[in-house]
Amino acid sequence: MDRIMSPSILAADYLNLERDIRNAVAWGADWLHVDVMDAHFVRPLTFGAPMVAQIRKICGIPLDVHLMTDRPEQIARDVLDAGADIVTFHVEAAEDPAALIAMIHERGSRAGIALKPYTPLEAVVPYLETVDMVLVMTVEPGYGGQKLMPHTLEKAKALRERCPDLAIQADGGLCGETIRDVVRSGVNVMVAGSAVFKAEDPSSMIRFWKTFDPEDPA
Ligand code: DX5
Ligand code: ZN
Repeated sequence: MDRIMSPSILAADYLNLERDIRNAVAWGADWLHVDVMDAHFVRPLTFGAPMVAQIRKICGIPLDVHLMTDRPEQIARDVLDAGADIVTFHVEAAEDPAALIAMIHERGSRAGIALKPYTPLEAVVPYLETVDMVLVMTVEPGYGGQKLMPHTLEKAKALRERCPDLAIQADGGLCGETIRDVVRSGVNVMVAGSAVFKAEDPSSMIRFWKTFDPEDPA
């Protein structure tokens, strides 16, 4: 299964966002991860559909939009209008996840379902047949630069055993020290903010994360 790298612009320099997005693409990003926060589902407030529309104009790779919002039904429509390719919402926030997945598909985009660190895997099981991706949050959503919670990778492992072909995304605390365990757990879509934008050599880092053998002891 292909490994996909999706750098999170949460860690970019907002005054130089266009530069940082173009850099991420040049470094080999497969997708661009856009964290939409509403100051309600999570405490911070970031950016919304108008920002997604602006980014769409300068970015040719898929936009991977992570909705950390209550009432994701409304904002999902707006980010789809703005050009999102993958829309991931939180199972804890959606009123009717099945209907929301269907709506995202009707609009021609891919649907992801996210679960917070202490939400059990069972919460997403009813949607595994229809969803394109499961996002296993490896930190509490809201902030970049946190430490990965190792217990969350047990959920990724169990999910990979159950669904060998499903895209499984991990988000939060991915770095040089944790990436081996992340990949070993069966995750194939890697989101990283600080690790990418603060790397000395982001191109080599991305290439390495996409290709290393997690079983190689070196
Ligand atoms: C956190 C966001 C993440 C965040 C990850 O709630 O969903 O996408 O950018 O940041 P790092 O990679 O710094 O942990
Ligand atoms: Zn995210």
